[in-house]
Amino acid sequence: GAPKPLAGKKVIVTSGPTHEPIDPVRYIANRSSGRQGHAIAAALAKLGADVTLVSGPVTIPDPMAVETVHVERAEEMLEAVISRLPVDIAVMVAAVADWRVASSAGQKIKKQPGEAPPPLLLTENPDILKTVGHHEKRPKLVIGFAAETQDVEKNGRAKLERKGADLIVANDVSPETGIMGGTRNRVKIISAKGVDEWPELDKDEVAERLAALISSKLG
Ligand code: C5P
Repeated sequence: GAPKPLAGKKVIVTSGPTHEPIDPVRYIANRSSGRQGHAIAAALAKLGADVTLVSGPVTIPDPMAVETVHVERAEEMLEAVISRLPVDIAVMVAAVADWRVASSAGQKIKKQPGEAPPPLLLTENPDILKTVGHHEKRPKLVIGFAAETQDVEKNGRAKLERKGADLIVANDVSPETGIMGGTRNRVKIISAKGVDEWPELDKDEVAERLAALISSKLG
């Protein structure tokens, strides 16, 4: 069969958006499809890794040969990731909501005739990548993504440091790129050594290249 350079390596990948409840029927979300994260999980499994995918709510199928754990909220995603440490490699691709509603309602919020709209008070979500990057059980290789609409490289470099990551995969998610929710991606690989710009590729191809890069770094 195909060579399995990552046989015996444990990997956690996060993917998709998170949904942060406002009340039992409403939530805050983003446009992430999970395509890139799921493709990375599949590509790593193809190289023989033992992959757990922690996915937010997506409409795409679970990848083959990958244990997939489904969560909704950032806090659930953090718990699902941390409880599975130690692992060798963590690839945090999920578009985690930065904020959640400070106290989501237990019942559906009713529109009251003549009353002002309810204010939405937000509070900060835990940063999963940053937590993993600074954890006492930190994986040997910690990889994050940086979805930006401006100053992609500068923001990516800052994230490398702040989040304790070894690599940041930075992409421009400005609406005109069609990347967020789309099938193609154009990324820059940012490490302490510098920046490598990849051409525009299918998300599956980005995943395969990244899996090969990961395998070369651990091999
Ligand atoms: O800070 P920012 O959201 O731009 O960083 C993006 C990277 O951090 C991605 O790898 C994303 O999965 C991760 N992240 C996270 N938890 C958060 C926010 C971002 O793991 N709460």
